[in-house]
Amino acid sequence: MAPAFAQDRAVKAALLLLPVVVPAIYLYRFSRQVSSKTTATTGRRDAVDKLAADGGYHHPLREPASIPDEVRDSSRWEAVAYERIISHPIPASSLVYPVTDVAADADGPSELMRAYTSAAQVAFVSTPQGYLMRAAIKDPQTKLTFDVDWIRNLLFRRGDLVNGAYRVVYHGPGADAGSERVELAIEKPPSYKGHVPRGLIVSEIHQVVDDVTGRIDVIFANETWMWRRRDEAKTLIETAFGSWFHCLTVGWLVVKGVDRVMGR
Ligand SMILES: *[C@@H]1O[C@H](CO)[C@@H](O)[C@H](O)[C@H]1NC(C)=O
Repeated sequence: MAPAFAQDRAVKAALLLLPVVVPAIYLYRFSRQVSSKTTATTGRRDAVDKLAADGGYHHPLREPASIPDEVRDSSRWEAVAYERIISHPIPASSLVYPVTDVAADADGPSELMRAYTSAAQVAFVSTPQGYLMRAAIKDPQTKLTFDVDWIRNLLFRRGDLVNGAYRVVYHGPGADAGSERVELAIEKPPSYKGHVPRGLIVSEIHQVVDDVTGRIDVIFANETWMWRRRDEAKTLIETAFGSWFHCLTVGWLVVKGVDRVMGR
């Protein structure tokens, strides 16, 4: 029989390892689940045209309308990185909200877009990043924008604020016919002292129409765009770990958004 101290050591080792192993297994299963339902692509702006030309997409990737002009035009801002997560195509007939074509002058996003985006924003509050952001924001006005009721009732019109740092700056047609998008700029909350990255996020809904059967499928997308000066440190989504973790988190948000529009 092993001496008592050795047993003791084994127990201690097991206890120490447990908190690592459990999240690792959990994370593994979690990431399998997310990647079985979504597809991620990442890259730099200069590669967008090439990727699109490769025909790797069901639909085009379009640079957000709200990227500031000075970023768009200047080579000082060379590093514009994007990360895009898309759901698998989902039959329009299995959605609990109607799929509509968006008019350029529409008052606000469609019901379908609102349901998708708000479910993802509600889910965001329970991610580590959402949790930290909420804890760091002190003023009550901004803190309110993390509340489930606030998010569910939001119309996502231009100027609306959600989760403390995301301001709706564009709503309208998306990258291709029949698609709809909402762009949210990342802005610094008034009471927040930490670093706020330059960037924006895009929620997009694409219709894929089968020419023969007329069947409509819908793809739900989430894009993150970040930019920095050439001489600045890499953005989160340009680093290997940051990008992996961010893709996983956003993949989960997209899954939550899709669950909601399917009435799950
Ligand atoms: C998209 O991802 C951002 C995080 O980058 C998140 O805040 C947002 O809720 C997501 N939206 C959708 C519709 O998935």
